Amino acid sequence: MAEPVRVCVTGAAGQIGYSLVYMVGSGAVFGPDTPVILHLLDIAPMMNVLNGVCMEISDCALPCVRDVVATDDPAVAFKDIDCAFLVGAMPRKEGMERKDLLAANVKIFKVQGQALDQYAKKSVKVLVVGNPANTNALICAKYAPSIPRENFSAMTRLDQNRAQAQIAAKLGIPVTDVKNVIIWGNHSSTQFPDVRHATATVNGEEIPVYDAIKDDAFLKNEFITLVQKRGGAVIAARKLSSAMSAAKAACDHVKSIFQGTKEGHFVSMGVFSDGSYNTPEGVMYSFPVTIKDKKWSIVQGLPIEDFAREKMDKTAKELCEERDEAIAVCQD
Ligand code: NAD
Ligand code: LMR
Repeated sequence: MAEPVRVCVTGAAGQIGYSLVYMVGSGAVFGPDTPVILHLLDIAPMMNVLNGVCMEISDCALPCVRDVVATDDPAVAFKDIDCAFLVGAMPRKEGMERKDLLAANVKIFKVQGQALDQYAKKSVKVLVVGNPANTNALICAKYAPSIPRENFSAMTRLDQNRAQAQIAAKLGIPVTDVKNVIIWGNHSSTQFPDVRHATATVNGEEIPVYDAIKDDAFLKNEFITLVQKRGGAVIAARKLSSAMSAAKAACDHVKSIFQGTKEGHFVSMGVFSDGSYNTPEGVMYSFPVTIKDKKWSIVQGLPIEDFAREKMDKTAKELCEERDEAIAVCQD
């Protein structure tokens, strides 16, 4: 057996946490032969609930789970960790946009950035799930200056999975036969789900999704809106925000980091922009990336048509506005 990986989940007593800790404990992220030590963080009033979650983890008798540390103290939760799923934050309710959560949530990520800086391993990989995820990730990294900023990323994998599933359903093929769907920009309703570079395997042949679907109007309108608004649709139906699918996407994202991407495949994640594709440097913009040895690289050289350019700029503008607002909130 490999060395245990210390994995922190914040908001572990919440909805996403409930699915996520099981998935991580089952070996779905770090592999069935890698033991994990779960560090579960929530706030003091949730310690009873968290205790119940710990009882259930024990009752699952998961072979990968070596130990569980449950706490309301970030110093304990982040001590020597290799990986953090930062989930703990307020979810939006019906009628809200994700950016409406900024003032309520961003300070959590300032405090947790400071704690990561002090207590986590410098090699820690940090995924931010709590909304607004891209901007929270930016703030978290800003307050953890001793950790390389490449180690921070924000989750747009749920949007990618949603987009992939919609294309597969439209074509009546398995999701695994759709590849290289891209989410550009913010995990918000300005995101740009882009299938211009995606392929589908239909009747044994891998062809561009645009050629497989043969309905440009659908791909440029209905499909994009559906993915952009899917989170809101789930909230309207469940009266709670997505949790099982969010946990699955978080696992997919971190698995891609720790185990790499497959040859010829890319995945989308919010990472610090280096100005690629004329995006504003320094915001956490979702790009297509490939990953090797736990290091991501933005896929370069994809042709961008005018239709895409306009959408990529719109979501970039929103990220710049969120960044400025978040920095101001953290200085209060
Ligand atoms: P939830 O309310 O069920 O759980 C959140 C948990 O976080 C609660 O137990 C709460 O006590 C805890 N928490 C609050 N402040 C904390 C802090 N400072 N430290 C540690 N824990 C803290 O919410 P949820 O449905 O699990 O969603 C969590 C977040 O994830 C929300 O912001 C939601 O909008 C976001 N989300 C993001 C995506 C994405 O794709 N990026 C998808 C789904 C949900
Ligand atoms: C989602 O995409 O489902 C989450 O970000 C929750 C939300 O507020 O939409």
